[in-house]
Amino acid sequence: MSSDLPRELAEQLSTTRFGREVQWHYSVGSTNTIALQLANDGAPEGLVVWADHQTTGRGRHGRNWHDSPGHNLLFSTVLRPSLPTELTGLIPLAAGLAVSQAIEIQSGLQTNLKWPNDVLINTKKVCGMLMEGQISHGENSQVMVLGIGLNVNQTEFAAEVESKATSLILESGQPVSRPALLAELLRCLEFRYDQLQAGDYDTIRNEFELRMTLVDASISVSPTATTMPTEGVVLGIAADGALRIETVTGEQRVHAGDISFSPLA
Ligand code: BTN
Repeated sequence: MSSDLPRELAEQLSTTRFGREVQWHYSVGSTNTIALQLANDGAPEGLVVWADHQTTGRGRHGRNWHDSPGHNLLFSTVLRPSLPTELTGLIPLAAGLAVSQAIEIQSGLQTNLKWPNDVLINTKKVCGMLMEGQISHGENSQVMVLGIGLNVNQTEFAAEVESKATSLILESGQPVSRPALLAELLRCLEFRYDQLQAGDYDTIRNEFELRMTLVDASISVSPTATTMPTEGVVLGIAADGALRIETVTGEQRVHAGDISFSPLA
C-alpha cells in the first residue's frame, strides 16, 4: 500500500541530510527498532523511519507509547554524532528545542520544555522522545537513534493519560498537516544538531533553560523506576546537559530521570 505522505514531505523538505532518505510504513512495532537495525547495517545519518501507527511503541523507562493510527507523528532518525561521549546528553535537549520551535512555527501554539526532552503545552505533554543506541564503533563514532512521538491530530486519550497528555488539535482547535510539520521539525532538528556538532553547546543549554518549566520549582526526580528519588529545587542545566538541583545536602546533578513535583512543594 502506498501513501501520499512521503511525497508531501519530500515536496516541503528544506534540509540537506535529515529526511532526505525516508522509510515509510503504515504500521510497525516500533520505528526505533527498525531504525536501530538500519543504523547498525550502515544507514546514513538523517535517515528517517516514519510510521502511521506503532503496535509496540516504546517510551522512556520501559513504558509503552500508544498512538491513535493515522493521527500523529511517529518517527526515528539515525544520528552519528561526533560529540565527546560525555556531551551526548545535550542531543535530547537540542531535539526538544527543535520540536518546540517547529510546533510554534506550524501551529502558533506556545510550548515549554520539561527536562530532559518532553514538550508541553499548557502543562500537558504533547511530545516525547526516546534516544537509543549509543553503540560505540570506536572513538568519536557513535550510532544512535532518536525516536519522536508527537501528538498532532489525536482527539481522545486513554483515561489513565487524559489529564497529562494533549495534542496540537486539542490545543489549537485546528488540524495540522503532518508532512508540513515533519518538514519543519526536520529543518529545526538539523539546525540544532549542526549547532551541537559545531561545538555551540552554550546556545543549546541557554535556549533550553529559557523554555524550561520548573526552574525554581521543588521537584522530585527518579533516575530509574526503582531508584530512590532525589528531591530539591531546580537550578538549571549543567554544561553537559544534566539537571542541576539544590538539595538539602547541596547541589546535585542528575543525568537521567523523570521529574515530578515534589510532595513537599
Ligand atoms: C517518552 O516520552 O516516554 C518517549 C516516547 C517516544 C515515542 C517515540 S514514537 C517513535 C519512536 N518509536 C518508539 O517506539 N518510540 C519513539
